[in-house]
Amino acid sequence: MLMNLVAFALLFNGCTANKVADALIQNSCKEVPKFTGMVSRWPHFENDCIASLKENPQSQKARNIDDLIMVGANNAISNLTNVKRIVEKIIKERKYKSSLSKKSLEDCLKLYSKSSHSLISGLNYIKKGNLDDANHEYTDAAKAPIFCELKFNGDNQQISPVKKENNLLLTMIQIPELLILKELWH
Ligand SMILES: *[C@@H]1O[C@H](CO)[C@@H](O)[C@H](O)[C@H]1NC(C)=O
Repeated sequence: MLMNLVAFALLFNGCTANKVADALIQNSCKEVPKFTGMVSRWPHFENDCIASLKENPQSQKARNIDDLIMVGANNAISNLTNVKRIVEKIIKERKYKSSLSKKSLEDCLKLYSKSSHSLISGLNYIKKGNLDDANHEYTDAAKAPIFCELKFNGDNQQISPVKKENNLLLTMIQIPELLILKELWH
């Protein structure tokens, strides 16, 4: 009987904890500031935001928006690392369409490296509670997926092999960025 009670208490606690975290994630993703125009350009933002935060088990321990910002910041770093690896693989396996395309991919790698520094620096600012400076780092970090795509679609009119990845990466960087703005403006 006692064991059952303990088990029940543990289970119940776990469930309410998840509900708290889930509600926090949903409200935070829904109520990010709209004035930046970032959300209107990305109609799936709210759903992508909720899905990506929930995907990280750390989010279930989140009790406030600062905890979620941290989860989003870590997600952005791992997403960028994955996209970078995909591009490195395309170059290594010579899966690019032309030498021009190869050159663009190499430029993208340089952009990703810069972005990676910004994301790590952003995370450190978050840890120190300096959201203003963190915000600037995320604005900088978001340039990599944008300019990488422009390398292909600009004068060259090439087709980017990582268009989908860059779009998702941009969202993954904008999630902590918008959550930070929400904190700064509330
Ligand atoms: C980046 O994150 C998004 C959202 O979680 C995911 O769908 C996508 O597969 C990730 N991309 C990489 C390359 O990890």
